Amino acid sequence: MPMGHPSGVWRFESLVMPTAGEAITSHPEGNTPLMTRRVVSEWAGCDGLLLKHEGYNPTGSFKDRGMTVGTTQAVRTGATAVACASTGNTSASLASYAAQAGIPGLVFVPAGKVALGKMAQTLAYGAKTLLVKGDFDTCLRLVQEASRELGIYLLNSINPWRVEGQKTIVFETLQQLGWDAPDFIVLPAGNLGNTAAFGKALREAKALGLISRVPRLVSVQAAGAAPFAKGFRDHFAQRYTVQAETIATAIRIGDPASWDRAVRAIRETDGLVLSVTDDEIIDAKVRIDAAGVGCEPASAASVAGVRQLVRDGIIRSGDRVVAVLTGHVLKDPGMLVELHQERTDFAQANRPVEIDATVKAVAD
Ligand code: F0G
Repeated sequence: MPMGHPSGVWRFESLVMPTAGEAITSHPEGNTPLMTRRVVSEWAGCDGLLLKHEGYNPTGSFKDRGMTVGTTQAVRTGATAVACASTGNTSASLASYAAQAGIPGLVFVPAGKVALGKMAQTLAYGAKTLLVKGDFDTCLRLVQEASRELGIYLLNSINPWRVEGQKTIVFETLQQLGWDAPDFIVLPAGNLGNTAAFGKALREAKALGLISRVPRLVSVQAAGAAPFAKGFRDHFAQRYTVQAETIATAIRIGDPASWDRAVRAIRETDGLVLSVTDDEIIDAKVRIDAAGVGCEPASAASVAGVRQLVRDGIIRSGDRVVAVLTGHVLKDPGMLVELHQERTDFAQANRPVEIDATVKAVAD
């Protein structure tokens, strides 16, 4: 295994893009922690729960792992502009890497449906931001058409180089575990690029003899945006689309682009696809936050999924489970303010208290 590069992606250069050479555009990224937090394990009912926190990437989500490789390819091919459709994290990541590479970035996001932190990053890093009147699925159709017609390099996860970079979440996790594969790897799923990437990484790790057995991959969708979970229940007899709605805006996707590659990933790993309700997502997030770790709403779907699998007797006592937290707690500050400060019906609210500037008021 090639060692020495400071990036947790380019450390695996030979398995990602062996010919990148001088073109590499790296923050660096990756090298994210694998954590245990007792309160989260207890809530999920899983002693062997490990949290792989991809929110510790430079722009706060796993997207940086794919974006460093995709941007490197854009540099290699002399792209004059790069573009993506996004629910927010891909756009924040693209904006950052395009700025570093000195290539203009163009992002298509659903108007009014992007979490505040993600929008702030995208604007700060200087990407031209188009607020599209429509959902993510509409944005993706539009950016594909526009890129084709206008000769712009497309950096959504249908771009194979994005997937190559995202494979390193799995390689790095396995390396952290001494190449002793866990029983389950659980991740939130929307457009299914990451599910496809995880499946490819596990296939390659097994073929290279880096691991002796393949963990079961579990993709977790939000109940209001769960076409892939519906397909799974139907043994993937057909492809479904839905009108998506969920509090987890990152995975508010009704027509996932990487469907076929993700089906292969689930089949090859004897995997599972679940859906969890928004209430379950909030419940999981509150526990992860209260453990002092935190994550964005979509990320908490993975831990909610673990809890469901424990309840259903699929994850058993003694199983080792990695749940991927895909994004940082600061990605969605709007939701946190609403939950803790504005909503009156939320039992776990940590309500701030306004006081006069006197010691008496502090004591009270
Ligand atoms: N978690 C987070 C925090 C995400 O931002 C995304 C996707 C996912 C999970 C799901 O991954 O799409 O590969 O199945 N965000 C994309 C974006 C769609 O535009 O930022 P997926």
